[in-house]
Amino acid sequence: MLEAVSNSTIREEILLKDKEVRRETHILYTGSETTLPVERPETPPIYHSTANIICDMDDYDFASGGGKYYYCRTANPNRDGVAEAISYLERGEASLVCASGMAAISTALVSLVKAGDHIVASRSIYGETIELFDRVLTKLGVAITYADFTKTEQVEKAIQENTTILYTEIIANPLIEVIDLDAISAIGHHAGAMVLVDSTFTTPFAIRPLEHGADIVLHSLTKYFGGHSDITAGSITGSQKVIKKIYGDFLLLGGCLDPNSAWLMLRSIRTMEMRVKKQFENAKKIAEALDADAHVRYVNYPTLSNHPQRELAARLMPQGCGAMLSFRVEDDREKVNEFMHRLQLVKYLGTLGGYRTTIAHPATAFRNEFTPQQLKDMGMEEGLIRISAGAEATDDLIADFKQALTVFAQV
Ligand SMILES: Cc1ncc(COP(=O)(O)O)c(C=O)c1O
Repeated sequence: MLEAVSNSTIREEILLKDKEVRRETHILYTGSETTLPVERPETPPIYHSTANIICDMDDYDFASGGGKYYYCRTANPNRDGVAEAISYLERGEASLVCASGMAAISTALVSLVKAGDHIVASRSIYGETIELFDRVLTKLGVAITYADFTKTEQVEKAIQENTTILYTEIIANPLIEVIDLDAISAIGHHAGAMVLVDSTFTTPFAIRPLEHGADIVLHSLTKYFGGHSDITAGSITGSQKVIKKIYGDFLLLGGCLDPNSAWLMLRSIRTMEMRVKKQFENAKKIAEALDADAHVRYVNYPTLSNHPQRELAARLMPQGCGAMLSFRVEDDREKVNEFMHRLQLVKYLGTLGGYRTTIAHPATAFRNEFTPQQLKDMGMEEGLIRISAGAEATDDLIADFKQALTVFAQV
């Protein structure tokens, strides 16, 4: 009987009325379609289906030409919803939503380079992005030069005839140094190179890189966009033209975000502004409180009156400089451990950007990649602690840090 139903637009329940269909067949078809119209739900449904039924070959042509959804890796309504929201926030024309920040970064880079190209990258970017450059892109015949992007003359000097990409983040981790994106974009475009910016630390509520000349903005959505430390995702945003070019490889590389995570992500994005603004405010106030604490040697946060890049930060990020800061105490490993034990609210966590305040210890995080001397030269002393400010009541956070700081000698 099944074979007789050649037109799949016939509702499955008609098929099921036929008594000749056996139980093991019936159970595969029943309940798939709604019996009442579902109109305008307050939240979008999750489109888990990996594929949609196609009526005939003409319908296939229509679907594969972009006329409707038909295969999840190609396109999915939940993922498209997230893409639309990110494009809106970043003022980009189009976005691709990937399974992680690294999926976004690797998809964009692998798609844009060819053998013989040269990339100039900031040396203060996410460690695994550096590994991607050094281990994967070099295998494809791409050369990389690292430069200190806070010194624009170093970037200019690093450019070669075959430089096709300048790659940077805006706030260098963990010293919270600000990169002058306007200047970097001008240098890149003068050289005929594209400017790719990972804006994970900053978010579109601090800066929209495309408005400062970047060609592509990348995010680990795992951080502030997701915001609750429960979704792993990433994004690529730019012009229609560049996203269309990357899309072909995005399909082949296969790093698309699954519908369930995409649904959760859109839900998080709805309240992102409220969350992130509070986090920015907390970071600023924690920075001020730590700066005034006798146990703290110095604090790295660009709004502080003693920060050398205060003016640059105010020009690039007038709404706030993000929720990441770092500070240095006595370089005593045992005391730093004890400080972590004494903190009651704030936890040590291998991520950032969540709704709760967390700390990390850069010298420990990077100890397998660099020698102790290299770490010191890069400013990652034993006493350097990084904070990702959450959305708690500011006074509670300051009190927690202050009581735990008494473990250190006064400066
Ligand atoms: C600045 C930055 N970019 C990219 C990534 C990679 O993101 P994901 O872990 O979502 O792959 C991270 C992760 O911490 C990051 O901090």
